[in-house]
Parts: sequence; C-alpha cells; structure tokens
Amino acid sequence: MKTIEICFTPQLYESRQTDLQHIAVVIDVLRATTAITTAINYGAKGIIPIKELSDLKKMKENGYLIASERDGLKVDFADFGNSPLSFMDRKEEIDDKVIAYSTTNGTKAIEAAMQHSPTAIVLGAYTNKDKLVEYLLEQNQNVVFICSGWKSQFGIEDAVVAGAFCQQLTDNGKFINICDSSKAALNLWDIAKDNLITYLENSSHSQRLKNIGLEKDIEFCLTENTTPIVPIYEDGIIKKLK
Ligand code: MLT
Repeated sequence: MKTIEICFTPQLYESRQTDLQHIAVVIDVLRATTAITTAINYGAKGIIPIKELSDLKKMKENGYLIASERDGLKVDFADFGNSPLSFMDRKEEIDDKVIAYSTTNGTKAIEAAMQHSPTAIVLGAYTNKDKLVEYLLEQNQNVVFICSGWKSQFGIEDAVVAGAFCQQLTDNGKFINICDSSKAALNLWDIAKDNLITYLENSSHSQRLKNIGLEKDIEFCLTENTTPIVPIYEDGIIKKLK
C-alpha cells in the first residue's frame, strides 16, 4: 500500500512524516493552482514560479509575460493577476507563451516543495481533480499534499479539496492515510462534498475575494474537472504533463 499525507501549510511540509520517496501535490484552490492549471489548459507553454517581486521585475525586463497578485490584487507591473477567468478571456495573449508567476501563497508552496526534491511536483485543484487522481494511481507512489493556506495559516478550501483527493485515492484500495490531517480532511470533504460553494462561501479567502469583486473566480475554482490536465514542475518550469 502507498501512503497519503496532508500538510495543511507549506511550513508543515518541513516536518512531514513521509521521509520516503513521494510525489508532492501542491494545492491552492483559491486561486493559484487553479489559475496556473487553467492558463496551461488554455495554451500557455509554461509557468515559471517566482517567489520575490524583485525577481519578477527582472523577468519582465527580460520580456516575459507576468502574472502576479498580492493579497488577491493584481500587482501593478503585471500583465495578469491570478484569475483563471482572465487567462480564458485573453487566451490569445498567452498562447504558447511562458509566464513568470508570483502569488501570495501558491508559488511559495511550490518553492517549499522544491526544497525537498520529491520524485515529482504536480499541481492539484478541484478543476483537475479526476485527471490528477488518474495520474497518481498510475504512478503508484507515496503522496504528500501541500496545502498553500493563507500566509502560513490553515486554509479550509485547500483542506477540503485535499480530502476529496484522499477519498478517491483510498477508495481505490491502493492508498492508506497515515496522519490525522488526512483523517480531518476526509471529514471536511464528507461535510462539504454535496455543495462545495455553499460550504466554502464563508471561508476567509472566499470573503477576501468577494470583498474585491472576484466572486466569479470562486465559482470557477470550485467547479469540478473543467481543466483536465496535470501541470508538472520540472527544471524550473511548470508544463502540461504529456
Ligand atoms: C495565493 O496564491 O495566495 C492565492 O491564490 C491568492 C489569490 O487569491 O490570488
């Protein structure tokens, strides 16, 4: 049997139980992993995650398209914020382009995964859930889910979707949960699964996004399987798994 572990924040990944080889799945449902998956699904050639805005400015000077937000709002020098809908609406601008990308939490969570050289780093969202489950079952390796949360705090939307992944993997009979976080995430998913949008409408990050007029992003991010691809991070860039 392969193991499943959930880290509710990137910082908890440092002290994970799984010291064996594993696939790291980064989850930032609202909105980074959903937005990145959507950009690639709508034609972007690749996404380069960048931690610091100072480095992102250098990428702009080198001619890259820039997508970046801080506290949910588009960074002033960026071409895009962190909205999946903007990549759909402006798909001709991103077609076959490499985008330098920096968000408040999501790209930091990817950075955290990079520090420990897992077998693979892939991006998970509700919009690519079934496709990613298919990949994880095929790979048949231990899995650690890294929830981005918000500024090192627990984020319930990431935990619920990690629970959805857990449910499908353990239902298959090939995986076992090895931590209380996974058990908690499964319980949250069981409560939320029949109406995810209603269950999460009062989450702190849903409220933040509503306060800046981004309700439509929430609905898209909480809609199942609309971007059926697996984004994989390799050699500094996130691309669609072939
Ligand atoms: C993040 O990466 O912190 C979030 O996706 C922020 C946002 O909603 O853009």
